[in-house]
Parts: sequence; structure tokens; C-alpha cells
Amino acid sequence: MAEVRKRKVIVDCDPGHDDMCAILLAAKHMELLGITTVHGNQSLEKTTKNSLKIVELAGLTHVPVAKGMPQSLLGWTNYAPEIHGESGLDGVDLPEPTTPLHELHAVDFIIKTVMENDDVTIIATGPLTNVGLALIKEPKIASRISCISIMGGSTTYGNVTPVAEFNIVIDPEAADVVFRSGIPMKMFGLNVTRRAEATPQHIQRIRELGTPFARTVADLLGFYGGTLMRIFGTGGASMHDPCAVATFIDPTIFDMRPMHVAIELNGKLTRGMTVCDYRHERTTADQLAGDKAIHRGQKPNCEVAVGIDNEKFMDLLIQTIASF
Ligand code: BDR
Ligand code: CA
Repeated sequence: MAEVRKRKVIVDCDPGHDDMCAILLAAKHMELLGITTVHGNQSLEKTTKNSLKIVELAGLTHVPVAKGMPQSLLGWTNYAPEIHGESGLDGVDLPEPTTPLHELHAVDFIIKTVMENDDVTIIATGPLTNVGLALIKEPKIASRISCISIMGGSTTYGNVTPVAEFNIVIDPEAADVVFRSGIPMKMFGLNVTRRAEATPQHIQRIRELGTPFARTVADLLGFYGGTLMRIFGTGGASMHDPCAVATFIDPTIFDMRPMHVAIELNGKLTRGMTVCDYRHERTTADQLAGDKAIHRGQKPNCEVAVGIDNEKFMDLLIQTIASF
């Protein structure tokens, strides 16, 4: 039987509790070539320390961790201590990590890894500063990257402004570079990732796995779910980031639709919005008008998530946690 080759991935992230779950899925089901860190949920120093804590907790110290950009392309940061705590990974006092960082800057790590490996997929679960900058610094990587799968944006509401989601609005210029790159893209936005939810019952199932690792993950998700339930009134811990990984493990979890996604850079009320055009899904009137139809929409540049089977998704996540 032919060997099934594992997808080669880099996870670019700002851990973050849900980023941690994205790392766990990628490490277990894919060939995780490296983790690159970026400012976002907390300062770069903290998201990098958290990445090292996660690889130590999960026994993944063979995975290189490369530290990236401390601020957006325009010099902006905006942390989320109210969601992920002061450390960016509150809920359990994990030991101070001793694993050394990779010697390369994350931007150079991405460029080198993509140039040396065919068909690398980039999974981005934080602001897109590292990925955007890598594309600016070495445009040749665009034709070598197999896919960029992001958690970010939304087809509907935002969480920082009425229309803008955190990962995009923190660095819209970088997101704009990524979405205009011509690389095959997948977008998991808030419209779907808010429905990817670890409820208290799911967290209890994780705890009952009984291993010290599972109990630690349950405590971390319990903290994160608690802040989200208090602040946003969610039904549990929003599992935004692992959606961008789970799609490659079981594509039937999500409903995806091709759309053209553009980043709003200027709007006084709409900066950071992912403007999703799916006018190409022609109405009956357009079909009747044939070539004369005027509302054609732009050519899709992205597969966008529009639906999720949360029980299937949570089963995958819980089975994965059980396997550590
Ligand atoms: C995104 O923001 C962060 O808080 C999460 O880790 C996720 O990547 C959701 O808007
Ligand atoms: Ca994140």
C-alpha cells in the first residue's frame, strides 16, 4: 500500500489557548516543520515563551520555535489580556521553559523552510505580520507554498469592531499582502469559529481522559472558556484557531465556499474588515442575463468556511488530546 505522506506545515501563531490546540492538532496529524511566533494575544516575548511552554508540555521539543515580529507592519500592537490572561496562557502555572529558540528570525525561518521543502502549508493563527513580511522579503516563496490556512476575519460580524476580527485588524496591511499573494487560501472566520466551541461538558470529557497532560489542557481551556463566557456570553471556549488545522485532517467537518476576500485598509468604520465577495454565486436573474449579467463578482481567491459540525470537530480535538 502506498504510504500516505503527511502534510508539511508551519504554524505561525500567538499562543493563546486556542493557538495551543492548533499546535497540538498539527503536531499529531501533520509533519510540523516549525512554530513561528508573532505579537497578538500578548507581547511577542510572552507568545514566544508560551510556545516553548507548549512544546515542553506536549513533548514536542524537537519542533523548532522561531521568534518573529513584535509589532504590525505599521508598528501597532493590541494585546488581549482580558481573554487569555496576563501571561497570554493563564489558567495553569507552567514551568519556565528551558528549550532554546531556533537561531533564525521567524520571517527567515519561513523563507528558508519554504525554499527547501516542496508543498509547505502555512497555518496562521495570529496577526499575519510574519507571513506578510516573508512574502515581501522573498516573493519567490509565493509560488512554492501549497496553501495558507488562516484563522481570521469573518463573513459577518467582528470581535474588535462591528466588522473587524482581531487577527486581521491588528495588521491589515500584512493581511492585504497575504490575500493578494495568489497563493491558495483557506479562511476560518468568526462566523464559523465562534461555533467551534469547547463547552464545559467537552472540557469535562478532556479532564476525564485522566492523564496529567489532559488535566492541564482542561484547566487551561477552563480558564479561557470562563473569560469568554463572562465577556462575550459564549457557551464555552471558542476554538477559533484549531479550525485552520482540522480542515486538513477531516475536511467534512466544515462547509467551505469559494469567495473573493479583500482587506479593507482605509474605512473609518471598516478598517480590518474581510470584504467577502460571493456574487459569482449567480442568482437566477444573473443566469438568465448570461453574459450581460453585471453583478458577476470578482474571481475567488479563497475557500471560506461557512459551516461546521462542532461535535465532529470536538471529537477530533479530544481524541488528539487523548493521544498525547
Ligand atoms: C483570534 O484572536 C485570538 O484571541 C485567538 O487566538 C484567535 O486567533 C480570534 O479573533
Ligand atoms: Ca491566535
